Amino acid sequence: MIRISASILSADFARLGEQIAEAEQGGADYIHVDVMDGMFVPNITAGPVLVNAARRSTSLPLDVHLMIEKPERYVEAFREAGADILTVHYEACPHLHRTVQRIRELGASPGVSLNPSTPLSALEEILDYVDLVLIMTVNPGFGGQKYIDTMTAKIARLRRWLDERERRPVLEVDGGLNPETAPKAARAGADIIVAGAAIFAADVPVGAAIRRLREAIALKQG
Ligand code: DX5
Ligand code: ZN
Repeated sequence: MIRISASILSADFARLGEQIAEAEQGGADYIHVDVMDGMFVPNITAGPVLVNAARRSTSLPLDVHLMIEKPERYVEAFREAGADILTVHYEACPHLHRTVQRIRELGASPGVSLNPSTPLSALEEILDYVDLVLIMTVNPGFGGQKYIDTMTAKIARLRRWLDERERRPVLEVDGGLNPETAPKAARAGADIIVAGAAIFAADVPVGAAIRRLREAIALKQG
């Protein structure tokens, strides 16, 4: 079954603990925290303090997406704050292999993410070392953006590539996923769907929004 990672970027930060609890009760599988530095992406969001606040609000695994330059400077701090999965961007991390190894040494699961314009071939030498590949389906930086349709074929190509391998990291997708677009990503082979606006800025409560997302995916897959 497809897993859902609820991105708190669109949550009400004044009620963060409650919003995370609603996502947990509503059936989210992970809490996704978007860390942005105003350099790698044109927005600034959360640091270790916020990850730690999320940690104290849930027993779900924290899926921490680092959209920051030279993430190796901060992986330890985010791990100490309570991150379970630490995903770094290929484009932001010149010593990717070292950073991924470091994340594992710290006891977290390493992930690598690709921007929409980065080809899958960038993964070639790192796939053996990561537990997760995160395919961006928007240009990272903001919640509530539109799903880039050509990414569906990229997800499908990665799915075929992973299926040929013995050791298979999980395939996560992130950006613009809602009841209309998430089924496309799921059918193309995503294991984990990240959703922010579709969960925390929907016209229904958080739990209902998560159910609606799952139902849309099940319907189109069945
Ligand atoms: C975008 C972030 C996403 C974002 C997804 O840069 O990485 O995780 O929060 O939000 P939606 O689902 O609203 O596109
Ligand atoms: Zn994200």
